[in-house]
Amino acid sequence: MSESKKTRYEQSLLQLASVLEGIDDQVAIMATISCILKTNHPAYFWVGFYRVVDDSLLVGPYQGSMGCLRIEFGRGVCGTCAATKETQIVADVHAFPGHIACDARSKSEIVVPVFGKQGTLIAVLDVDSEEVGSFDKTDQFFLEKIIARFFG
Ligand code: SME
Repeated sequence: MSESKKTRYEQSLLQLASVLEGIDDQVAIMATISCILKTNHPAYFWVGFYRVVDDSLLVGPYQGSMGCLRIEFGRGVCGTCAATKETQIVADVHAFPGHIACDARSKSEIVVPVFGKQGTLIAVLDVDSEEVGSFDKTDQFFLEKIIARFFG
């Protein structure tokens, strides 16, 4: 496990626990998670959520360059995560069939499902990097932990 990455996530968790104390609005939580992850991980190029709205994924809140507005279940990495309800780690997005290129600078990504209190899928968390192979089990462990802590 990369120590500096682990430290950044642990700091993010502490900050989030502090600033989100008493907050239960989902959009405020998503905006704050996006902000803190983007700030604490300078290598992350795009961090944000696609929410389940009318049976597809609708962008926001997020931090980064403009994201595609709507993604159908099963399409791209986010749509695959939503359809399978499982975290997707893609080392090279150009090798992923059906990858949706919102910004050509994005080279690798991780997408984590977000479940609400009833256990239904309410969103996915998408993190993109300009480097190939940025994401691993450490990212999966901490991002899933953050999601479970603030939405589960
Ligand atoms: N690359 C994603 C689309 C979302 S953006 O990267 C912000 C995908 O294939 O799901």
